[in-house]
Parts: sequence; structure tokens; C-alpha cells
Amino acid sequence: MSELKNDRFLRALMREPVDRTPLWMMRQAGRYLPEYRATREEAGSFLDLCKNTELACEVTMQPLRRYAMDAAILFSDILTIPDALGLGLYFETGEGPRFRKTVRSAEDLAGLNSFKASDDLGYVMDAVSAIRKELNGSVPLIGFSGSPWTLATYMVEGGSSKDFSRVKTMAYDQPELMHELLTVLADAVADYLTAQVEAGAQALQIFDTWGGSLSAGAYKEFSLKYMQRIVSRLPREADGRPVPVIVFTKGGGQWLSTIADCGAQAVGIDWTTDIATAKKLVGDRVAIQGNMDPMMLFASPDRIREEVAGILAGFGHGSGHVFNLGHGITPGVNPDHVTAFVDAVIELSPQYHRD
Ligand code: CP3
Repeated sequence: MSELKNDRFLRALMREPVDRTPLWMMRQAGRYLPEYRATREEAGSFLDLCKNTELACEVTMQPLRRYAMDAAILFSDILTIPDALGLGLYFETGEGPRFRKTVRSAEDLAGLNSFKASDDLGYVMDAVSAIRKELNGSVPLIGFSGSPWTLATYMVEGGSSKDFSRVKTMAYDQPELMHELLTVLADAVADYLTAQVEAGAQALQIFDTWGGSLSAGAYKEFSLKYMQRIVSRLPREADGRPVPVIVFTKGGGQWLSTIADCGAQAVGIDWTTDIATAKKLVGDRVAIQGNMDPMMLFASPDRIREEVAGILAGFGHGSGHVFNLGHGITPGVNPDHVTAFVDAVIELSPQYHRD
């Protein structure tokens, strides 16, 4: 493997000194980019794109050609696992993800396919290897998965949900069944992330997009516990370097102090938490990733720069901050506004890393 030329993202996650704050954007490969829309058109459906090694690699590289991002993220989706478990994933235009089958009973659970990531999601590992080769050591590659709870929400509801009524009813009324489902998912996620590291992923993010929908107690019981279990089973090193893990619970700001003890090297925070407060809550236990409101990218370049300045000042001096949005970038953002965002981090952050 070629030597890594830019390692400030990995260094910041380990809270080692860096020259400036590293950055990347959740959903950096996506519909706001005209070149993504063109490749997506060429591929057919979104899932066809994920399964096409060459095109998945191409869309991963697209944001890196435009912007000085300090990391690439595998182009795939969190819902590949439920799809491989046999639920039949498809995307209805404008409706988000949908499943042909759901898991709402012990019978449904028993009917899931057995799962081995290297066999059943071989196309993801092929994409990881191809992207690593294409990156050629320019920046590190992030692998990812959904959290068991987040995957369970889609599997029980059958798609996106506004109130999570079915999945929460199952958790509150049939906790044993829910724990069985979450155990199956935690095993699958640990295996999936391990296979991604073996294929070449150099850092990992667990997207707990819907953990924040739970009550404090239920969050620990149904989401955090399983992420902790996964993290404890992941490979600690690859190519002689640590493989840092970022746990991102959207809406988890008030639980950060607990999340910081889950074994991950970093916590992701959404825009509703003040980054200075987050830093106080986690202390020197973990690095922090975040947290500009994705909607700020619709504001003017000057306003974006002001917001970046505020977040950098909020985190303050020293390493341990990876700049990102507080959630994925929205389709419809002007790509030039992303340039303003990236330039602001690059120009305004070095002052926080001088002795
Ligand atoms: O960050 C990246 O650039 C890597 C790629 C990535 C995608 N999805 C590509 C994608 C990642 C990391 C994800 C994760 C994901 N997928 C999450 C967790 C992160 C989050 O946003 O909270 C969730 C909840 C999903 C499930 C999912 N997949 C949704 C809700 C959607 C949107 C459906 C829609 O029509 O808006 C998807 C589809 C999807 N995943 C797209 C992309 C680029 C859009 C597909 C398209 O081209 O139409």
C-alpha cells in the first residue's frame, strides 16, 4: 500500500497535533454535485450505482477533485445490510428507502438470511479496494455502517418514519424480541466493518441517525450498548496504524458524556449542540467531529465563513476536532458554497494549532 500523504484526519481523531483542522462532509458524494447526477443517470438506479465498482469509485472521488477534503468516504448506503439479510431494498423517487419485507415478529426474525459480509456484501469490499487504489495514499478512506438501532428502525417500519411508532412499540412491549434483532444486527455490523478494514478502510463511522429519537434510558439499552459491543470487536490497527472509530448519534448531544465512554475514538455531533459545551462534556476522552448546520450552506459565502469561524473558536485551541456538517449535505446546495465552507476551514483553522 502506498504511504499516506495527508494524515491530518487520522491524527486529529487520535488527538495528535495537526497543522490545521481537517475536514470532510457527510454525504460529500451526492446529488448537490452535477457530476454525481450524471454518473447516477449512467448507472441506472442508486443501488446499481452502489453495486458498480467502477462507478462507486468514481462518485467517491468526485468531491475530492473539487474540494480539499481530508478524507474520502466509501460510496454505499447503510441499508445494504438489511438488503443482504433478505428484506429487498428499493428506492421510490421522492419517498426515500423502502423494503419489500419487514421484521415485526419472531417468525420474521427467524426468516432472515444468514450473513457473512465478505460473501454477501462482496460488492462493498470490491468498492473499498478499488477506492483505496484510486486514492493512492492522497487521503484516508472512511468505511461506515448504520448502528443496529438505526438499521432496526428501517427494518421494522419498512422504510423511513416520522414517529417510529412500530419500532418503538416493539422495543417497549417486546424488549426480548428487539434485543434478539439488535444482536443479529450487531453481529452483522461488526463483521461488515471488520471486512471493510480488511479491504482497506482506514477509519470507521457508525451512523446512529435515529438513536436520538429514544428516551435517555432506552437509548442506552437499545442503541449505545450495541455500538459499544461492536466497537469492542473491531480491529484496532491496520497497516500498523490505529483505525479510529467515530460514533455519530444524531440528537445525542445531551448524552455525550456517556457516549464518550463507548470505546470509540471520536464522537460526531449535530448542529443543535454547542461545540464548546460538547468539548466540556467529553473532556479529553475522545475527539469531536462536527457540526455546522447543513442548511447554513444555503446562506451566503460570508455568512458561511462567519459560522465556520464561530465553530472553530468554540472548539478552541489544539487538536481533536474534525470539521464536518452536523448531518449530511442537502441536494440543492450550490457547489460554490461548499468551496466557501472548505476555504474558511483551511484559512481560519491554522491559528488554533500553533503552540
Ligand atoms: O457520505 C457519503 O458521501 C457516503 C455515502 C452515503 C450514502 N448514504 C449515499 C446515499 C452514506 C454514508 C449514507 C448513509 C445513510 N443512508 C444514512 C445515515 C446517514 C444519514 O444521512 O443520517 C441513512 C439514514 C441512509 C438511508 C438512506 N439512503 C436515505 C434516507 C436516503 C435518501 C433517500 C432520498 O431519496 O433522499 C438514501 C439514499 C442515498 N444514500 C443517496 C445517497 C447519495 C441518494 C440517492 C440518490 O442518488 O437518489
